[in-house]
Amino acid sequence: MFNIDQHYSRNTYSYLKHFIRRDDKVLDVGSGNCLVAQKIKDELKAAIHCVDVCNHSKTSITPKIFDGRKIPYGNKTFKSSLAAFVLHHCPHQEELLQEMIRVSSQEIIILEDVPQHWYDHWFIVLHRFTSYFKYNSKKMIFRRDGEWKALFRKLGLRVKQEIEIKKDRGLVYPVNRKLYLLTVYA
Ligand SMILES: C[S@@+](CC[C@H](N)C(=O)[O-])C[C@H]1O[C@@H](n2cnc3c(N)ncnc32)[C@H](O)[C@@H]1O
Repeated sequence: MFNIDQHYSRNTYSYLKHFIRRDDKVLDVGSGNCLVAQKIKDELKAAIHCVDVCNHSKTSITPKIFDGRKIPYGNKTFKSSLAAFVLHHCPHQEELLQEMIRVSSQEIIILEDVPQHWYDHWFIVLHRFTSYFKYNSKKMIFRRDGEWKALFRKLGLRVKQEIEIKKDRGLVYPVNRKLYLLTVYA
């Protein structure tokens, strides 16, 4: 039977798998149901760790719970950290990104909604409403592509690669989305 969580996690994984290699130590920030982390662990054999503000796991992986600001790991603990459709739920985006930079030695992978058309904002109103109940998201901040890039630049992150996420991911929420592969300026 069709399972929406499995569909989304498979789709997210299909973009991430190109940037994570066997034995990489990776942090999944805002891991949600942890289905993506489980696939990374099972299929790529990477050492994945999860943090979230709440435990929504539907797998045997238990995320470390944190305050959404200070990541409970030391400097450069991970090769890379990822946040898939998480930052727009965070009132402290800049602080969290700085923490991802601190704990990562090489790369940061961000998947984000990047509203582009006027009608995207109607879907975002719906997303705000459902996220309030599902994730207790009280202050969501959406940015356009140029605004994400300005924030990355401000924090010393270079966009090494960007990929459009195809709309077939979810026809009920056809907002533009992107994957940004970021490296820290030397
Ligand atoms: C749409 S879900 C994405 C889950 C997962 N990354 C995925 O792609 O399946 C958003 C997640 O962000 C988490 N979240 C919200 N605010 C956060 C914060 N400040 N820091 C980390 N995670 C946060 C929520 O608890 C939720 O698990």
